[in-house]
Amino acid sequence: MIMCGIIGCALRDGNAAPLIRKALERLEYRGYDSVGEATIDNSNLVIKKDQGKIADIHKKLDLDDLPGPTGIGHTRWATHGAPSQVNAHPHTDCKEKIAVVHNGIIENFVELREELERKGHKFKSRCDTEVIPHLIEENLNSDTDFIMAVRNTARRLEGTYAIAVLSVEKPDRLICIRKESPLVLGIGEEGNFCASDIPALLPLTRNIIYLNEGELAVLDPEGVELSDLESYTKRIPEIEEISWTVETAERAGYPHFMLKEINEQPETVKNALRTQEVYIDLMSTILDKADQVFLVAAGTAYHACLAGTYMFSELANLNAQAAIASEFKERYGKLIGKNSVILAVSQSGETMDTLSAIRYALDRGATVLGITNVMGSTVTRLTGIYIGQNSGPEIGVASTKAYTAQAMILARLAIKLGEKRKTISSDKVGKLNQTLKDMPSILERILKTQTNRTKDLATKYRDRESFCFLGRGIDYVTALEGRLKLLELAYPPSLAYPAGESKHGFIAVVEDGYPLIFIAPKTSTQNELIGNIMEMKARGGSIISITEEGDQKILALSDDFIEIPKGIPEILTPIPYILPLQLFAYYSALERNRDPDQPRNLAKSVTVK
Ligand code: F6R
Repeated sequence: MIMCGIIGCALRDGNAAPLIRKALERLEYRGYDSVGEATIDNSNLVIKKDQGKIADIHKKLDLDDLPGPTGIGHTRWATHGAPSQVNAHPHTDCKEKIAVVHNGIIENFVELREELERKGHKFKSRCDTEVIPHLIEENLNSDTDFIMAVRNTARRLEGTYAIAVLSVEKPDRLICIRKESPLVLGIGEEGNFCASDIPALLPLTRNIIYLNEGELAVLDPEGVELSDLESYTKRIPEIEEISWTVETAERAGYPHFMLKEINEQPETVKNALRTQEVYIDLMSTILDKADQVFLVAAGTAYHACLAGTYMFSELANLNAQAAIASEFKERYGKLIGKNSVILAVSQSGETMDTLSAIRYALDRGATVLGITNVMGSTVTRLTGIYIGQNSGPEIGVASTKAYTAQAMILARLAIKLGEKRKTISSDKVGKLNQTLKDMPSILERILKTQTNRTKDLATKYRDRESFCFLGRGIDYVTALEGRLKLLELAYPPSLAYPAGESKHGFIAVVEDGYPLIFIAPKTSTQNELIGNIMEMKARGGSIISITEEGDQKILALSDDFIEIPKGIPEILTPIPYILPLQLFAYYSALERNRDPDQPRNLAKSVTVK
């Protein structure tokens, strides 16, 4: 999980709070909507937490002013429960003796919360994490041993977690567990630490232990004990010395945030599938009843919407219009009314053009839904129902992981609506849902096998002044998004065309060696696409194809190619097929001495009209 940062400190003496606060500042890139710390003072838990950025909350509350050598801290990226003081971590049990910080998502928190409430536990927040301290408290009724109570708690949790637990019963100890979300331990001179990742720990120590999947660690100032959560088998800690700088560590060793974010996609598409089924169901019901549906967004998010229109039409017979937010009012304004549904898609949730379109639609009485990556953003405040993408902060200016997550969520909506309307067979629903589940490993494989090939292509074509991206059907959307990535990162003025349309004008541009990037999976229109490739080849164009592994027909026509695993249903191709184009844009930027994280003239969040 790339959201939220956690830190824990068990010092020999002195106060943990100032170290925790500084470590949280180094983790702030993982999330920054709320912050909190807990320490133990004279057998009492003391907590400071609030909504806002660390520097602001520190000014307001003096986060360093918490006594005690053992403590935990958290910087939040909201997933369940809006950013607010009560939803900020640490969370506690009823008696305020146990404090927990968590990074991840507890998928079964609704059931656990209901069960605990029936047993008399009183909850203070809307946050999924709060079930953890209450469950530990409950387990302590039957388990006398605190570590056993944490173990038994972990057994009940579904989803992902990196957790640090602090308890007044053992004031010099921290217990940490992890499943899928990252957690590292640090062995230092002053004491021992745990954190979501290495940058938080670097000034404190360079001696790191990686916690394994499903492992429990007990930390005190003198040492660390590791054991498997299930089998209790002990492991002798292997300490690694880290030589990274703080800056490199923030990017998890990648040279740029963009490359890190491209490589996070196996994880972020998985996050897009987690929980939220109830919202998918609700939204699809609303879409089903609407007279007219508009998917509204800007830039890359607009391309996700465009892919969504193909998905809704193909799978659910729904005629949804994709609207560029800045054109929405002029193009569709008078059509919007009480029976219109607007689905606004925005990574940041703050793009001014998208917000203006939302406000306009709300004024005319329309129902407005949202998909966004930033909980607490204006999109979440303006829209009646919204879905969080759970992609974690996207720092590179060019949107990558947010796009594939948006496409995953739109695909889920279209499949759900298709099921409701009975426009797709249950076999097809099964196949599509299975491909969505397999998407993390499909993307993993593309990254593993095609990154170097893509890099070589960027080198080979580094002097070309223009490119054209072509595709048919939904692959035209991938052509548009691939073109946008290349334009904004490496700046060669380039084109994107529906391949069938290319002969109605564009073909005049093609001459010897002109690079044409064809999005060419094995789809129902592949024969027509082959015709378009031949037309371009006959005029001397260089054919670069993104195609299915071993597809001889396409390979035989291509000067260069990138291969994508077989068997992706046509309607889901935008998700895997964009990866090599993101990489191509990234490496093309490097080849042309451009900064891929901060392309010229662009801003991450465009808050002007
Ligand atoms: C392209 C890119 C922009 C954004 C657009 C919308 O790589 O990042 O085109 O997609 O500015 O931003 P959000 O999704 O935050 O509304």
